[in-house]
Amino acid sequence: MPTAIPACSRPLRQPAWFVLRLAPVLLLGLLLSACGEAEAPAAGRLDAARQRPADPALAQVYASSCQLCHANPASGAPLAGDAKAWAPRLAQGADTLLDHSINGYQGMPPMGQCMQCSEEQFLALISFMSGHSFQ
Ligand code: HEC
Repeated sequence: MPTAIPACSRPLRQPAWFVLRLAPVLLLGLLLSACGEAEAPAAGRLDAARQRPADPALAQVYASSCQLCHANPASGAPLAGDAKAWAPRLAQGADTLLDHSINGYQGMPPMGQCMQCSEEQFLALISFMSGHSFQ
């Protein structure tokens, strides 16, 4: 009879042990979901941050130059994929946009931090960010 008690208590103890082992995982899950909620209002930023040119070479140029500002609302730059922000700028025409990219324009630094970029690359980058094709 006394041997039945430990045999019975073992299956009871095991679930408790698993809950203890799961506790850090559950806690991490809670922390992560809390972070997710905190970032929810920045959804616009996340959308711009996810945009990448389809061409891998252009994507690399973009990631090391334009993206620093054009995926960051705090920079004041028109964001990649934000058609509304680009519309009045596109209305100036490709020549002006190219001129402002190369020579700078207010908060936009000359060459947009891509000193080796060609005119074609600037146009391709503007085309990607604005969603407008210049061809
Ligand atoms: C250091 C931040 C920064 C970087 C890097 C940057 N830009 Fe900009 N860009 C801006 C800001 C800020 C504006 C908005 C300027 C304004 O209208 O006051 C802007 C505006 C522009 C415009 C619109 C100009 C106009 O006439 O309305 C174009 C085109 C542009 N950027 C292209 C680029 C390209 C292409 C790259 C990458 C090669 C790039 N930018 C990198 C900050 C940046």
